Amino acid sequence: EFHMKTYLVTGAAGFIGANYLKYILKKYDGKEDIKVIVVDALTYAGNLGTIREELKNSKVKFEKVDIRDRKETERIFSENEVDYVVNFAAESHVDRSIENPQIFLETNILGTQNLLENAKKAWTVSKGENGYPVYRDGVKYLQVSTDEVYGSLSKDYEKAIELVIEDEKVKNVVKDRTNLKTYGDKFFTEKTPLDPRSPYSASKAGADHIVLAYGETYKMPITITRCSNNYGPYHFPEKLIPLMIKNVLEGKKLPVYGKGDNVRDWLYVEDHCKGIDLVLREGKEGEIYNIGGFNEEQNINIVKLVIDILKEEITNNDEYKRVLKTNLDNINYNLITYVQDRLGHDMRYAIDPSKIARDLGWYPETDFETGIRKTVKWYLENQEWVNEVISGDYQKYYEEMYGGK
Ligand code: NAD
Ligand code: DAU
Repeated sequence: EFHMKTYLVTGAAGFIGANYLKYILKKYDGKEDIKVIVVDALTYAGNLGTIREELKNSKVKFEKVDIRDRKETERIFSENEVDYVVNFAAESHVDRSIENPQIFLETNILGTQNLLENAKKAWTVSKGENGYPVYRDGVKYLQVSTDEVYGSLSKDYEKAIELVIEDEKVKNVVKDRTNLKTYGDKFFTEKTPLDPRSPYSASKAGADHIVLAYGETYKMPITITRCSNNYGPYHFPEKLIPLMIKNVLEGKKLPVYGKGDNVRDWLYVEDHCKGIDLVLREGKEGEIYNIGGFNEEQNINIVKLVIDILKEEITNNDEYKRVLKTNLDNINYNLITYVQDRLGHDMRYAIDPSKIARDLGWYPETDFETGIRKTVKWYLENQEWVNEVISGDYQKYYEEMYGGK
């Protein structure tokens, strides 16, 4: 039976949310009728320019609203028949959480609870005999969480080793992908106890707990996804990869924390968006799904790869030379500078995404070589976007964070 679905997507002016908005509009275009309400407070990390084209679409409505704002959230739920809530809105940068933890608790925990509460109110149609609310058919709440809630894993190998998948079903789903890598023997599964270690990850863990509590206590139809490090277009240049690209183009030093040997599991953002929508549509109510890239790498190798690809692309393409604010000869490993380590720096994250592969058939389709080259080229071709998002605030942030380093 035909029924239009209304998405409420928070944080869609940010990196992953914007990619998700673009993804669902493309995916359902001409196939299924959807409406999307974008809710974003437009913090330093949110930029309407990122979704300028999407906002012209009559199916998309933008609300500049803070997810902590009870009245405004209530209004949005009363004005729209929301079917799906996908919550991306968050303070997302670990370094900022170390400088100023409180806003992380406010947005990530209280903001999440406010969304849940208003969704619950709007979706309740009656009270069941057992006292639990009864909800309108088909409604769902998805919380976008992170692998960081699981804490930090040990790094067991100096160099990456081949990652071997043993589960036959998972192996079959992932068979198109080559070059699966790991730096350790242990992985985060959905059953790994939460052990967050930064104010950011502690706030995300707090949010996960309250989402699960609404699932248990009020039988709300929730799911949670926990994803590893994303990379791709529209990534704000405070995070490792876009920051390094920006600095290389300016001939600036590349600040690598500590020894540069911390390991992250990198996933192309579009693959994450696919996973989120799949969990939203087909995931089992009340469940958690890990999403990861099978693609662990240590920071120093990421930085070197970014230098290599930039150098190659600029050398081979005269168009890109215009973007360069330094001499091509300056693009080399001498730009790398080791700076003071991040406080409480987690050593290694490694996601085991077997559950989403086995149950929903998802796998990280984009291999890193393809994804990182696409990303670097995107930045070379979209410097206007970078200039648009680095306001006066960004300059101040950079000076405060890296000035003394
Ligand atoms: P981002 O910082 O790029 O974007 C966050 C967006 O949320 C911005 O548009 C911002 O304006 C908005 N926002 C912030 N506070 C708000 C508030 N109080 N009310 C309304 N809007 C608000 O973040 P991102 O990297 O796109 O991450 C999105 C989500 O995915 C976050 O929940 C993050 O924890 C999670 N996540 C990120 C990664 C990653 O690698 N980037 C990996 C796993 C999970
Ligand atoms: O794992 C998922 C998480 O990935 C998300 O939940 C977060 O929202 C997201 O910001 C990201 O967190 P990280 O701390 O892993 O990402 P970041 O890009 O800040 O740093 C990646 C690694 O690079 C980390 O080990 C720190 C290091 N780093 C980072 C910066 C910004 C540097 O060495 N130098 C830098 O200047």
